[in-house]
Amino acid sequence: MCGIIACRAIEPAPGYLIAGLKRLEYRGYDSAGIAVTAADGTTAVFRTTSRVDSLTGLVDGWAGPLLAGTGIGHTRWATHGGVSEQNAHPHQDCEGRVSVVHNGILDNADRLRAELVHAGHRFSSEVDSEVICHLVEDRLLVSDDLLDAVSGAVAQLTGSWALVVLDARTGRMVAAAHRSPLLAARSTAGVFLASDISAIGDWVEEFHILADGDVIEVTNDLVWTHAGTPVAVPTAIPRPPRPTFSLTLEADDHMAAEILEQPEAATRLLEEVGGRIATGALWNDLGLPRFDRMRVVACGTSLNAGEVIGSALSRLGGLAHSSVVASEAAGSVVEPGTLTVMMSQSGETADVLRALDESPEGFPVLALVNNVHSTLGRKVDAVLSCSAGPEIGVAATKTFVCQILVGTGLVISSLVASGRMDTAQARRLVNDLYLVPEQLAEAAAAARALLPPLVDEVRGAKGFLFLGRGAGVAYAAEGALKLKEITYRWAEAYPAGELKHGPLALVEQGTPVVVVDDGDPRLAGNIAEVRARGGRIITIGRAGSSIEVPLSLAAPCGPLAAVVPLQMLALGLAVELGFDADKPRNLAKSVTVD
Ligand code: F6R
Repeated sequence: MCGIIACRAIEPAPGYLIAGLKRLEYRGYDSAGIAVTAADGTTAVFRTTSRVDSLTGLVDGWAGPLLAGTGIGHTRWATHGGVSEQNAHPHQDCEGRVSVVHNGILDNADRLRAELVHAGHRFSSEVDSEVICHLVEDRLLVSDDLLDAVSGAVAQLTGSWALVVLDARTGRMVAAAHRSPLLAARSTAGVFLASDISAIGDWVEEFHILADGDVIEVTNDLVWTHAGTPVAVPTAIPRPPRPTFSLTLEADDHMAAEILEQPEAATRLLEEVGGRIATGALWNDLGLPRFDRMRVVACGTSLNAGEVIGSALSRLGGLAHSSVVASEAAGSVVEPGTLTVMMSQSGETADVLRALDESPEGFPVLALVNNVHSTLGRKVDAVLSCSAGPEIGVAATKTFVCQILVGTGLVISSLVASGRMDTAQARRLVNDLYLVPEQLAEAAAAARALLPPLVDEVRGAKGFLFLGRGAGVAYAAEGALKLKEITYRWAEAYPAGELKHGPLALVEQGTPVVVVDDGDPRLAGNIAEVRARGGRIITIGRAGSSIEVPLSLAAPCGPLAAVVPLQMLALGLAVELGFDADKPRNLAKSVTVD
């Protein structure tokens, strides 16, 4: 979703801003822009509804005064107002003195806008964020101090914000945060701000996080205030290590590269945690109390991964689990002895963070994230990394696999630590996990060889059904989600037994029905029901399937390798239909609004 970068650098700002925005592209966006101070005390604004790269062309074509080292940048994912250059950030006040980038949602924007318009302000966009420019503009007329003006303006806002304000006249820059992540960092290259460390990680070694209610002035010393009072700069956090592995394999787009990278990501993860599973150390090191049931709270792909992990707990340990959609978690009953596992690859999903804020007190919460420094990772009792490495493709792939692997490892480890599983059984299960990288690689090879004609056959289909049984149901759900996200075709997932209770009505001549076949004998009947109505069955799984993938039936995480052909089916169809899988419409990598 929206991403922010800002800099006060020695070198001209556009280089930093555009490179940083490219690092934020993975969050998903539909427009982008930068504002840079110029030698004559004005601000040059460049905006585009195309890719971030096109900003370089706009800056290269700039014939105005020399651009300086201070600037702000933004990638936008539309919430208020359509996708247009006018609605792209940075926004400006009436005079062009104040430029603003903002992440979050202002709940009282309509009322503020009406008041400002009544007072004579002219708005040039439909975006809620523009009110901030005009509020600051008004306040500068009174005190001419940007820090005071921004502090006063944010006191009028309700909702969420991470924002940076640039004053062209003085070259000053002020930032503020409330319920939306923002961090600041200093280095020999300059002072930087970003909503995500990945945007500025090339230029800084450590960073400071803005807490809710902080307003800071971006100088070399960082003037830090909270609720109007100066406070010390918070302790610096070291930047996470840069990835040491290649982000692109033989593919030329991120999602494809990340699908192919899954065996490598799984190997890396197992090297990190594999030795601590059967000893119970993976669980014990978290310092959490023993639990009797698990409640997974998550959205989208993370929710599907959570379902696999929860069912592993029930199957292997006989303990109850529930999966709760994060946006519906408020008010859900939490029984004594429950461990809540909040799963989110980004750790920034607003629905998950809201569910955490609204969780009842006194129950332990574990976060399973791909970024331990994320807002979720910082707010919970214990955090476990799925260590997938940076995932740039908007549609989640390798984080799904790594969440499942580490989550299943955690389940086994907790059962050993609580005396519910002996170490011999745990070792056998861990050995199964060590087979996963090879199984993923084999599944990718099979899919590459066999998918093209199948994709060709179903390219005209309006809708798809995905079926599975038992541990296969969550994978069917993930297959349907991937297909919807990047091909814009309807796709529904069901436990195969449910088909005859209604959804079978959707099957007509040629309707593609994708079955995750983990060898459950009851699937044969469900497949026959579809065939009898002319449906086009594609099976993924056991020997004899349309695409065979290696499965070990006792595997603690079910038919995990089947997800690779499912991901590749969605990607192959997207490519066939001419869609950019790395920039899917209406989908963001970090969904930071509720
Ligand atoms: C799926 C996808 C979304 C996310 C969902 C949760 O490809 O990208 O469904 O899974 O928005 O995101 P996280 O895991 O970051 O909380």
